[in-house]
Amino acid sequence: MAANTHFTELGLVNTREMFKKAMEGQYAIPAYNFNNMEQLQAIMMGCMESHSPVILQVSSGARKYANQTLLKHMARGAVEMVRELGSKIPISLHLDHGDTFELCKSCIESGFSSVMIDGSAHSFNDNIELTKKVVEYAHQHDVTVEGELGVLAGIEDEVSHEKSHYTQPNEVEEFVGRTGVDSLAISIGTSHGAYKFKVKPGESVPPLRFDILEEIERRLPGFPIVLHGASSVVQEYVAIINQYGGKMEGAVGVPEEQLRRAARSAVCKINIDSDGRLVMTAIIRKAFHDDPKNFDPRKYLGPARDELKKLIIAKNTNVLGSANRY
Ligand code: G3H
Ligand code: 13P
Ligand code: ZN
Repeated sequence: MAANTHFTELGLVNTREMFKKAMEGQYAIPAYNFNNMEQLQAIMMGCMESHSPVILQVSSGARKYANQTLLKHMARGAVEMVRELGSKIPISLHLDHGDTFELCKSCIESGFSSVMIDGSAHSFNDNIELTKKVVEYAHQHDVTVEGELGVLAGIEDEVSHEKSHYTQPNEVEEFVGRTGVDSLAISIGTSHGAYKFKVKPGESVPPLRFDILEEIERRLPGFPIVLHGASSVVQEYVAIINQYGGKMEGAVGVPEEQLRRAARSAVCKINIDSDGRLVMTAIIRKAFHDDPKNFDPRKYLGPARDELKKLIIAKNTNVLGSANRY
């Protein structure tokens, strides 16, 4: 058994100060998922070059794919890399969609600085009990905790819900009060994956429920809110995927202007995974088409990584407003 590691030993910070600044500055911290070295390089270099704080997210699926210990050391290496390059951006390592106390505890002991306990599949009271237990343990280690109320629709490998249930504003004060969570993920119409809305060609996607968000802000003044399922599903990359042999017709995401509006509100953390997947897939598909003799992973993963870095800089600068904050 490896010895426990505290997140400060890895050069990480929890999300408390990040969210306070994001609330005051009316922007959102980007939370990007990573599963491999190229995604991590793109996230770190993109955030370093755009001077943005960053939350590195690890899902259960990522832990299974890449191994929690390896991911932790990759995050440590990423911190060292940007410090050697002279960057001071705050970096947090976060468990995305933790579903048990044991999983959250294991991540906290391994050096994560923030965890999500997603009890949204449980009843209100069971969600509170589970979340409270995680908060009590996490706070002993100064690790911050994200809870969730409401259910997002959408299907991902590890996060799957058939239907969405918007967060009920009349539940948020009791949930936050009884659990002691540091931030709250809510459901206002976003969903996971690349097919967020069913729209016919030419139709626009339904707007997010900003009325629910505003009511939550009124009930929890100054409290950090989190938006999951916030990829825009950039159509330029969907088109490249479809052009080079993919089949992703009808893939659609949350329009950027709606995310900009959310970022100016109490939404302090915006989760983005699918957009990164689309960029890498598009560039790799094109690379194989353009040069069928290409069998050097550096020559298809490298361009995919470089394009992902560009996307991250654009998101931080034009959508989240987190660029040039450090
Ligand atoms: O919210 C889900 C994230 O996009 C992670 O997806 O469970 O397939 O790693 P994953
Ligand atoms: P997307 O699928 O919209 O990128 O959402 C990712 C997410 O919410 C991770 O927790
Ligand atoms: Zn999510």
